[in-house]
Formats: sequence, C-alpha cells, structure tokens
Amino acid sequence: MKFNVLTLFPEMFESILGTSMLAKAKEQELLSVDLIDIRDYTQNKHRQVDDYPYGGGAGMLLKPEPIFRAVDDLDYSKQTPIIFLTPQGETFNQAKAKELANYEELTLLCGHYEGVDQRVREELITDEISIGDYVLTGGELPAMVLIDAVARLIPGVLGSQESAVEDSFYQGLLDYPHYTRPRDYKGLEVPQVLLSGDHGRIEQWRRKKALENTLHKRPDLLKQADLSEQDQKLLAEIKQELEEE
Ligand code: ADE
Repeated sequence: MKFNVLTLFPEMFESILGTSMLAKAKEQELLSVDLIDIRDYTQNKHRQVDDYPYGGGAGMLLKPEPIFRAVDDLDYSKQTPIIFLTPQGETFNQAKAKELANYEELTLLCGHYEGVDQRVREELITDEISIGDYVLTGGELPAMVLIDAVARLIPGVLGSQESAVEDSFYQGLLDYPHYTRPRDYKGLEVPQVLLSGDHGRIEQWRRKKALENTLHKRPDLLKQADLSEQDQKLLAEIKQELEEE
C-alpha cells in the first residue's frame, strides 16, 4: 500500500516511519510512504505557502497553487482518495481504518494555520478526516495516526498473534485483561482460570471480561455490538453481579 503525504514538515514523519512495525512493513515492501514537501511546489522567491484570507479575519491559509501543482505531479489514478486532515472532518475510527485499508494508494493532505483555500477542498479533496474533537497545530500527527491504524491492517504487517488481539476490537468490544509472568507479583495473582489449561473456560472468562470492560468504560459500544445469545447471558450475569455488590 502506498501513501502520498503532502506536508510542510516531512521531517516530522521520519521517526514514526523509521521505527518498529512501520519500519518493518516498509522494509518488506508492504508499505511505502512518499513524503511530499508542499514548499517544493511554490514558485515565488520566498517559497511562500500561506497567505491572508480574503475578507479579512485572523490567521493564514494554505495557498491553492502549490497544492494543486503537487497533486498534479502525483502518479495517481482518479479513484485514489485525497484525504484532508482537519478537525472539521468525519471522526476517524476502526471501521474507517478498515475501509481505507482496501485502497492500494491514499493521498493525505496535512493542514496548517487556519486551514486551506476552499478551492482545494472542493476540487481535490475527496474525504475530510478528524482524529478527535480537539485542535492540533497541524495535520501531521493525525496523518501519522491514520497511517499507523491503516498500515497495521495490511495483510502481513502484523504477526498472527497480534492480529488475533485486533479481532476483539473488530467485534465492537473493548479487550479483556491480559497477564504474563510472574504468576504472583508481590501478592498480586494472575486469575486462576488462566492457569487452568481449560480453553473453553478461558474463552468464556475473556468474553465476559471484555463485555464487563465495555459496559464500564464504553457502554455506547455495547449498543452497536453484534452480541450473541451467550453474550446476552454473560451480560445479564455481569449486571446481576453488579446489583449484588
Ligand atoms: N488538524 C488539527 N487538529 C486536527 C484533528 N483533531 N484531526 C485532524 N486534523 C487536525
């Protein structure tokens, strides 16, 4: 999968893309990221990328010409989404990451200042994505969040162990608790069931804990989750136990 990233600060991406799973994915040629410096597409002496808004008001805007030129220069098919990272966009989530992972190529535009000239949004941008209801100094961190979340869904980027963990979010629930050695840390013991070797009981315990976790922390997810009859039974048990406390 290929990402084209249009940015004023390509150097911001280096450590993220050069570390851990993303670095490995690049080495294995499962992922490539083309960092395109918008400033390289300016044609004025000062390499100016921003300008004052017509009509007045605070803040500067990204000028249209360098962005149009940079996009013209891409080797992209008309089908390739061009995503603008902005707090005004659709909120990013796992379902969107999964949808985007189906593309062979994505182009990301990182905003700065007060935003970008409206003609860029209307003529070039196909999707606007926000990573949450807060305002960052630019679209670079959001672009990295998106790349990371999408890249880990590319087949082969994660080992099979890690993919299994992801399934628990796919099913719309939060994860269950995990434990590793030692069995007893200063009197804090690993739940007995996990040491039992009884895979059926372990599975059921994990599902119940995932339901419990979701009920406590993100009850909104439970409403949308695809729950089996067994899940409903476990949920009823959890609620009963809560009442008894
Ligand atoms: N740019 C600034 N803040 C942002 C956010 N929350 N999401 C996406 N892009 C942004």
